[in-house]
Formats: sequence, C-alpha cells, structure tokens
Amino acid sequence: MTYLGIDIGTSGVKALLIDDQGKPLGDASAPAVEPVRPHPGWSEQNPADWWTATLAAVDTLKQSHPAALAAVRGIGLSGHMHGATLLGKDDAVLRPCILWNDGRSAAECAEMEAALPQLRDVAGNIAMPGFTAPKLAWVRKNEPAIFEQIEKVLLPKAYVRLLLSGEHVEDMSDAAGTLWLDVARRDWSDELLTLTGLTRAHMPRLVEGSAVAGQLKADLAQRWGMTGEVVIAGGAGDNAAAACGIGAIRPGEGFVSLGTSGVIFVSNDKFRPNTAGAVHAFCHAIPNTWHQMGVILSATDSLNWLSRITGQKQADLAAAAEAQFTGPGEEIFLPYLSGERTPHNNAAARGSFVGLSQSTDTAKLAQAVMEGVTFAFRDSQRVLQDAGTSIGRLLAVGGGSKSPLWLRMIATNLDTEIALPEDGDFGGALGAARLALCAAEGADPQDVMTMPPIKTIIAPDTKLSAAYSDQYARYRALYPAIEEARS
Ligand code: XUL
Repeated sequence: MTYLGIDIGTSGVKALLIDDQGKPLGDASAPAVEPVRPHPGWSEQNPADWWTATLAAVDTLKQSHPAALAAVRGIGLSGHMHGATLLGKDDAVLRPCILWNDGRSAAECAEMEAALPQLRDVAGNIAMPGFTAPKLAWVRKNEPAIFEQIEKVLLPKAYVRLLLSGEHVEDMSDAAGTLWLDVARRDWSDELLTLTGLTRAHMPRLVEGSAVAGQLKADLAQRWGMTGEVVIAGGAGDNAAAACGIGAIRPGEGFVSLGTSGVIFVSNDKFRPNTAGAVHAFCHAIPNTWHQMGVILSATDSLNWLSRITGQKQADLAAAAEAQFTGPGEEIFLPYLSGERTPHNNAAARGSFVGLSQSTDTAKLAQAVMEGVTFAFRDSQRVLQDAGTSIGRLLAVGGGSKSPLWLRMIATNLDTEIALPEDGDFGGALGAARLALCAAEGADPQDVMTMPPIKTIIAPDTKLSAAYSDQYARYRALYPAIEEARS
C-alpha cells in the first residue's frame, strides 16, 4: 500500500509517493503559473492553474511509478495558506484567488479590529492583510456584485480537494489562518464570520489534518490506475504539513523554512497566542496540538526578484555570493518587497538596499539579500522568544536550504544549530503523505511523524557572531528610519 502527498505551492505543485513505512518512493513536480500583481502589493493566482499543475504532477507519477501509484490508499494535501478562493453557484470560481502575500486589505483589518475589540482574543491573532477574512471584507466593499454571489470560501488546497473528492472540507491548521476560526476551540467563530457578512454555511466542513475528509472520485482513481478505495486526508497548511514532514509535532520542535515565504515554526502543546509581536498562533495538523510561527513574506522571493532584475539564476546568485563571502559587507537589504508580517505587521512596508558603492556587484547584492532575509528570521526569533518560547535546534526546509552559505548565516544569526534533512525539499509533500497514511490506516501520528535522516548539522560560525550582531543592529535601525522618511 502507498500514500500520496500533494503540496500546492505558490510556484508549483509537488506530488510524492511513500510506502507504508513512510519511505519516499518517487516524486514529480509541475510548475504553477506565477502569481500576477495587478497593482503594487496585490497578488493573485488562478485556481484552475493549481488543478492543471496537480493533474500534471500526478500524471507524471503515473508515467514514472505506475505500480506504486496504483497502490495508493490515501491522499494528503498541503497548500499555501490564507488564499481566498471564492465560489458561487455550482462551485464556479468567481474571481482570481487573492493570495497569502497580498497586502490590499490593511484598511479592512483596522476596521475589523475597531468593530470587534475582542478580535485578537477570539482569533488569537492580529487581523493581518495576509489572512483570509480581511480579503473578504475588501471584496465586500470593492466588488459587491461578486460578494453577493459567494456560496463558499475555500483555501487553495480545499479547492483542489473539492475537485478531487467533490466535497467542501478544510483542516484545522489551514482554517486557523482564515481569522474566522476560534483557534483555541478548533471551531468556526460565528462572531468573526458575522464581522465579514458571512455565516457557517459559507465555510467548508472542518476535520483534523490526520482524519478522513472524503474519497477520491472514481474517474480520477481510474485515470491514475487506483483500484481500491482511496481516502483523502484533512491535510495541512503548508507550514504545518512541513512540520509533519520533518517530525516537528512535539512541544518545542520546529523548523526554519526558506521558501517563497520564510517561516520559523515551533510546535506547542497548548494554544499560545502572542499578538504583540505579530506572532501567528494556529492549530497544528494533529488533534489537540497548536503551533506558533514568525512569517516573513519574501524569503526566496527576494532572491527571485534579484534574479529577475539581474537576469541571473537564483542558484548562480547564491553561488556567487558564497564564492566571494568573507563576512557581512557594507550593503544591507530590507526584504519587505511584499510588506511584512512578523514583527512589523505592515503591508505597506517596502524593501530597500542601503550602503551601495561603486564596488557593489551582483554577488554582493545577492549576499545582502540573503543576509536581509536572515535578519528578518532573527526578528521573528526575537518575538517568539518574547512569547516565552524557547527555540532549540531547527531543521531547515524549502528551496533556499540548498544554499550552504544561507544556512550558515541563519545558524550564526539565530545562534542555534540548523539540521539539514537528506532531502530538504520534501517538507510539505512528505507531511501531506504522512497525514494520508494516518487517515487511511488510523495510524498514530506520534509514530508516523518521525524526524528524517539528517545530512548535515550547521553550527553557528562564532567568528562571525559579533560582526553579524553589529550588522543586525544597523538593519533594525533602518526600518523605522526608512518608514518615517517614506511616510
Ligand atoms: C503563512 C504564510 C505562508 C504561506 C505560503 O502564514 O502565509 O507561509 O503559507 O507558503
């Protein structure tokens, strides 16, 4: 018997097969159409493109691993969080999905908090433009004709689940990022829904990530050669799924994710909100567990931007930075290209390069970008620690973890060991496949969510610690100064 994890990422879909011992058997990826930015600070993607990429990835597995795919008994989904997928009559998509890194709804966030002063207590989180509810408040105000037609609001992976199973279902970890969930009680909050003119009828049914959410449609089972019954698990938001993939489900276990967004994630046995530092406090994908995150909006997306404007590949930029690296240089980069969540909660913040000179070349710009993202992680670590969370060794996941220099910068700045799994890129898809195994077989998540084999442990480079602390102090001083100059 095998299990399939499907990770719907902003830049592509990854499908991964595991056996009943949790061992990866094969994987396939398909790129997604990049998000469009109709206005500065906006970010949208067409839900149909997620489905095209999902079919392409699983069809590729059908070519490369037909027998293993035919033996699938469970499918788990992981997806980028917070996106507002609006469905009307007969589940028709009403407009492009407004994504997690879209900052248009800052005014609506302020209005929501003013209208419901206890919002932060119920939701356990600040109203941030990235979350789903403020996006609906924006649509209600700016696109009333569309708002009127809404019958269901789904997150990205729930939309893919709808096409796989025909049902509207969401798991707790992703639902927590909507700002409609009472995160402590793991149930929709009528109070929060009313605030955006919606009711429970607009919401998908809730299940735990490791529970059964539905069955795969017969025509798709046939397309992929699957003969037995195939259950679909609740799955998880991409960060909780990555945590399942690297075995971070017990209190204090966590990871640092260098994906399009950057995340420091720590599991908790209790619901531990800390809204003061813009910490995210959400449900985990396992019953009765929660987690905290510091989220930075442009991690590899910052290098992606530099790659676009210099015409050099991201990997080449990282390699060039590594080749000339001797320690922090003069250049400093603020990675707020899409605004920032933790710790600033400011969708209108923007990125900066400071300290440029005639000797600044693309390698130095790349180094500064990697350092700026690293300092943003250091900011997140600071507010998680302020919330009383102690952070030990962190596993590294996401595409950016392929850069040894970037990991060394992070280990040094967070003053903690970073453990790199043998395949750093399986996080979300592996976690989703493991949740599928739990749902299909009733297996105990504590037995299934183990830590993967570790390839390397990167220790802080203590020779650079003092220089980096100085550079970080400069970095921290820049944000308020630049924001004041821009206002
Ligand atoms: C988390 C967040 C991102 C997305 C995209 O709050 O917005 O990490 O899940 O991956």
